[in-house]
Amino acid sequence: MNQENGVSMLEFPQRGDERGHLVIVEGAQDIPFDIKRIFYIFGSDADVVRGRHANLRSEFVLINVAGKSKVRVKDGRGNEAVFALNRPHTGIYLPSMVWKEMYDFSEDSVLLVLASEHYDPDEYIRDYEDFARIINGEK
Ligand code: TYD
Repeated sequence: MNQENGVSMLEFPQRGDERGHLVIVEGAQDIPFDIKRIFYIFGSDADVVRGRHANLRSEFVLINVAGKSKVRVKDGRGNEAVFALNRPHTGIYLPSMVWKEMYDFSEDSVLLVLASEHYDPDEYIRDYEDFARIINGEK
């Protein structure tokens, strides 16, 4: 699934020392787009499923800067993959037009999201069947 639709795990440079950890994330360098928006999700219970959408334009990188979560990605053609976000120096790159669901949040999870676009509700596809129809060229 990775190679087909561009979903990939990213590893960020670390410059920790005896004072603690330091992870560097540079726009357009470590992230394959210019960052226009940052948001973060915390306090989601373990049984919550977030996301459940695809985006016409936005690309994202998700980083669990604390705690853990999982991301399920679907391509609309019947393929899906699950990625574990559990290290502060790794992230997942999600291109536009993939279906994503974030779930299995640990109590201490802080999920940082970097986005390539400003928020525009009109570029969110929140119905899976609509997404699959677009992917499969049915509308
Ligand atoms: P939502 O997209 O459902 O979050 P998630 O995909 O992480 O579960 O967003 C929740 C609410 O916040 C929804 O009313 C839209 C709003 N929102 C913004 O106004 N700006 C943003 O950048 C984001 C991500 C959400």
